[in-house]
Amino acid sequence: MKGRLITFEGGEGCGKTTQARRLAARLEREGLPFLLQREPGGTPLGETVRSLILQGDHPLAPWAEALLIAAARAQMVDEVLRPALSRGLWVVCDRFADSSTAYQGGGLGLGEERIEELNRWITGGLRPDLTFFLDLPPEEARHDRDKPLDRIERRPLDFHRRVYETYQRLAQREPDRIIRIDARKPPDVIEEEVWRAVKKLLPGGRRV
Ligand code: TMP
Repeated sequence: MKGRLITFEGGEGCGKTTQARRLAARLEREGLPFLLQREPGGTPLGETVRSLILQGDHPLAPWAEALLIAAARAQMVDEVLRPALSRGLWVVCDRFADSSTAYQGGGLGLGEERIEELNRWITGGLRPDLTFFLDLPPEEARHDRDKPLDRIERRPLDFHRRVYETYQRLAQREPDRIIRIDARKPPDVIEEEVWRAVKKLLPGGRRV
């Protein structure tokens, strides 16, 4: 595969969507072919799963939630990510497999290792080249006041603490792939940190 996969991760309201969009805009300005995706989502199946998981009221069994998200990811990898990477695109993804490890493995208690194994199956071992973890303690989550909280945002603080602690563990375990950024910094500063790291992936560490 010639392209690059760059993912943004973190808890609720950490600003990762803003940063994923800013990185995509930067790649566009530099004339680099890119694709911006989000999970769950990005395909018709993924968007359906997204509304089932986030908007539904009917209680979902933990493994039903994990497997619905896994099905959406399997579809996204097959339909979007692999073709884009093999065409040499820079794929920026707002959440990917680490979200399942953190939310379903850690948050719901299904087990980080079991979810990581599931991720390996459904992605065929596809892993991001670089992941940015926007580190914001769940007590400081910034919610959009105009939007009602979704099913996952409504979960108790304990759940979000477990998600956060799992992300911390992942970042410690894989320091070469996962770059931890303090999400309390101003967005412009974060954008520069992200870009400094992404530039190193350019051919020959190209300076732009
Ligand atoms: P967001 O993109 O606005 O952060 O919303 C996605 C929500 O879905 C967020 O609460 C995290 C959750 N999610 C999981 O629980 N597991 C996953 O694997 C993914 C991709 C998302």
